[in-house]
Amino acid sequence: YNENSRESTSSFNPEQKEWEQNRMKQVQTEFGSKKSSQQEEEYDYVFDEEQIQFIAEDSISTTKEISPETIEQIQNIKKLNSQMTMQEVRKSLPIFPYREELIQAVNDYQVLIIVGETGSGKTTQIPQYLHEAGYTKRGKVGCTQPRRVAAMSVAARVADEMSCKLGQEVGYSIRFEDCTSEKTVLQYMTDGMLVREFLTTPDLSNYSVLIIDEAHERTLHTDILFGLVKDIARFRPDLKLLISSATMDADKFSQYFDDAPIFTIPGRKYDVSTLYTQAPEANYVDAVCVTVLQIHVSEPLGDILVFLTGQEEVDTVAEMLQQRTRGLGTKIKELVITRIYSTLPTDLQAKIFEPTPENARKVVLATNIAETSLTIDNIIYVIDTGFCKQKIYNPKSGMESLVVQPCSQASANQRKGRAGRVAPGKCFRLYTAWSFENEMEPNTTPEIQRTNLGNVVLLLKSMGINDLVHFDFMDPPPAETLIKALEQLYALGALNDRGQLTKLGRKMAEFPVDPQLSKMIIASEKYQCTDEILTICAMLTVNNTIFYRPKDKAFQADAAKKTFFHPEGDHLTLLQVYNQWRETGYATQWCFENFIQHRSMKRAKDVREQLEGLLERVEIPITSSADDTIAIRKAITSGYFYNTAKLEKSGLYRTNKTNQSVQIHPSSALFDAPPKWVVYFELVLTTKEFMRSVIEIQPQWLFEIAPHMYKQSELETESDKKKLPKVMGKSSTSK
Ligand code: CDP
Ligand code: MG
Repeated sequence: YNENSRESTSSFNPEQKEWEQNRMKQVQTEFGSKKSSQQEEEYDYVFDEEQIQFIAEDSISTTKEISPETIEQIQNIKKLNSQMTMQEVRKSLPIFPYREELIQAVNDYQVLIIVGETGSGKTTQIPQYLHEAGYTKRGKVGCTQPRRVAAMSVAARVADEMSCKLGQEVGYSIRFEDCTSEKTVLQYMTDGMLVREFLTTPDLSNYSVLIIDEAHERTLHTDILFGLVKDIARFRPDLKLLISSATMDADKFSQYFDDAPIFTIPGRKYDVSTLYTQAPEANYVDAVCVTVLQIHVSEPLGDILVFLTGQEEVDTVAEMLQQRTRGLGTKIKELVITRIYSTLPTDLQAKIFEPTPENARKVVLATNIAETSLTIDNIIYVIDTGFCKQKIYNPKSGMESLVVQPCSQASANQRKGRAGRVAPGKCFRLYTAWSFENEMEPNTTPEIQRTNLGNVVLLLKSMGINDLVHFDFMDPPPAETLIKALEQLYALGALNDRGQLTKLGRKMAEFPVDPQLSKMIIASEKYQCTDEILTICAMLTVNNTIFYRPKDKAFQADAAKKTFFHPEGDHLTLLQVYNQWRETGYATQWCFENFIQHRSMKRAKDVREQLEGLLERVEIPITSSADDTIAIRKAITSGYFYNTAKLEKSGLYRTNKTNQSVQIHPSSALFDAPPKWVVYFELVLTTKEFMRSVIEIQPQWLFEIAPHMYKQSELETESDKKKLPKVMGKSSTSK
C-alpha cells in the first residue's frame, strides 16, 4: 500500500476531486477516440493497456473456472426463488432444519452463542421462531444490529415475511427514529439504542429475549452491551440471551458468558477461488473499475459485489462505470450498477435486492455494510479493495480521526465469503498475496480500543456504574483512554472532581449525541440561543451530505454553495441554509435550485424536532437570538473549547491542546480568509490533518468559558512564541 493510494481515496480530499475530474476527461477521450477509429473491433481492446493481471492464490492448480453449467444452475435457482412463496423461501434457508433444535436450546439455556455463515437466516428467522414458540407472550424479542441500515432493512424484510406493516408487530428503532408501536413484538434496533434503553428501564423488563446480533463486529456499543446484559441476566432468570455472530470468535464469546453453549448452524458453502493482483495497485478506485469491466466482458454472467471504503468512493465508482459503459454502448451486455452505504436513501438501497434482469449483470458497490450485515443473493464475484475506513484514536492527544486503512485478514475472508453462497465464485483481491500475509492484521481491533469513550462513560455513569475500571469488559479499553474520557467529561462539567455525575452531566446524558454537542445545547440556554443551537446541532448530524455537487454542474453547485457562506464560520453557514429552507416552508424545489440535498435537510428537521423534545424534558425553554452570532459562537465554544487552533503562518494552524499542525478544510467558508483563532468541529486526516467545520472565535471567550483549560498567557494573541500547551489533569502534555 503506497501512500498515494491511501491519499486518493479519502472521501473529503480536494485533490481527489481534481483527480476524479482529470480522470473522467481521460476516460472520455480514451473511449471517444478509440470508438471512432475502431468501430467494429471486439470490445476487449478497451483493456489493452490497462488490464490488471491477477494470479490465483494457488498458482499450481489452475483456478476453477465458472462453467456455463454453473451459470445455468444459478439461473435455475433464481427462477425457483422467484416462483417460491415467501414461506417457501423461509423454509429453504440453512437455519430452517435446525428450528426445533434451536427453540429447544433456548428453552434449556439462559445464554446461547449462535454461530452461522452470513445469510443462513439468523437475523431474519430466529426472532420469528421465538415469536412462533410463544416467547413474545412474555415480552418483546429485541435484536440489535451495529448498523442503522441493517436494522431498518432487516425489519422491513421480516415485516414482509410476517405480512404485517412495518412498525406494527415488527418494528425498528434507530437514533432519532422510532418505528415501533404498542403492538411491536419483534424489535430490531441499533446496539446504541439498546444501551440507551438501560437508562430508562434498567432491567429491560419489556423484553423476554435479547439477541445481540453481529457480535463479531465488536462495535463499541455491542461491547458495552455484553457487560450490561451479562449483568442483568443474573437477576432476571426469565430473560433469554442470544449472542449471534458470523463464524468468528465463538469460543471467546462462550468463555466470556460463563461457558455458554455454542449452537452452530452449518452453512452451505461453495468454493471461492482467490485471485491477487500481481503488483500493488497504486489506485484502487481505478482498479475497481477496470476489474469490474474486465469481469463483465470476460467472465460468465453472475453478479459482482465490490467492497469500497465510503460513500464518496461508491458514488465515484458508480459514475465512472456509468461513463465507461455508456461509451461501449451495445457492445457489452447490460451492467446494472447499484450502490449501498448507510446514508443512501432507503428507496435506492432497496435496488440491491432487486433481481437482475435476464442477460444482464448486476454490480453492487458497497461499503463494509455488505461484509456481514446485509446478504445480497446470487453474488458470484467479489472485488475486494482490501481497505476500510476506520476510526482511530490517540488517547494522549485526545484526537480522533477517520482514516482509510488496510482491513484485517478476517474482514478480507468475510468479504470473500460473500461469493460462495449459491454457486462456486471468484474473489478478486486488489492487492498482492504478500500484502495479505504481511500488511494485514489477523483481526480487526475492537472499536472500544480505538475510539473516544466520552459518550459511553457518560452513559455508564448515568446508569450508576461508577467503577469503570472494574466493568466487565470483554476486552478492556486502554486505561489512558478511560482517563482521557473522564478528564474530558470533567472539563465539560459533566463530572465533579470525584468523578461523580453532576446535574449538568445528567442533563447531557439525555441527549443521544456526543458530550460536546449536548454541552453546547445546554449552554445555549445561558446565551439565549437554543433555537439556533438546536438547528446547528441537527445540521451537524447530516453535515457532509447537505451540499450536492453533480459532476456536470460542479461550477454552478460551488457557486450556489458560496452564497450561503457565513464569514464567521461553517456552523453559521449551516444555520443559514436551514433557516432559508424553513422560510420557504421546507420546500423541495428550493433545495433543488440551491444544490442542496432535500433528504438530508428533511432528516435534519426530524433530528431537530427530537432534540427540541428532549430540551423540553430537561426543562430548557426555547430562546432565539438570530442576529447575535457572538452568543451563538460562545454557546458552540462552550462544548468545543478543547478544539481550538491558532493561526501560525499562511494558513497553517496549531491546535492549542494537542499541539498538532492542522489546516482549515477547503470546503470551509473560512478557507480563503483564515482567522487568527478558530474552534473546529472535527479533524479529518486525508492528505493532511484538516479541521472540518470551523468558526472564528475571540481568544478572550475561552478565558470566560473555560478558565480551567486556558491561562491568560496562552491566549495573548500578540506573542507569536510557541507555548507549551497546558493540558489539564494527570496526563501532562502531549508531544
Ligand atoms: O443473519 P444472517 O446473515 O444469518 O441471514 P439473514 O440476514 O437472516 O438473511 C437470510 C435471507 O434473507 C438471505 O437469503 C437474504 O437474502 C434474505 N434477506 C432479504 O432478502 N432481504 C433483506 N432485507 C434481508 C434478508
Ligand atoms: Mg445477520
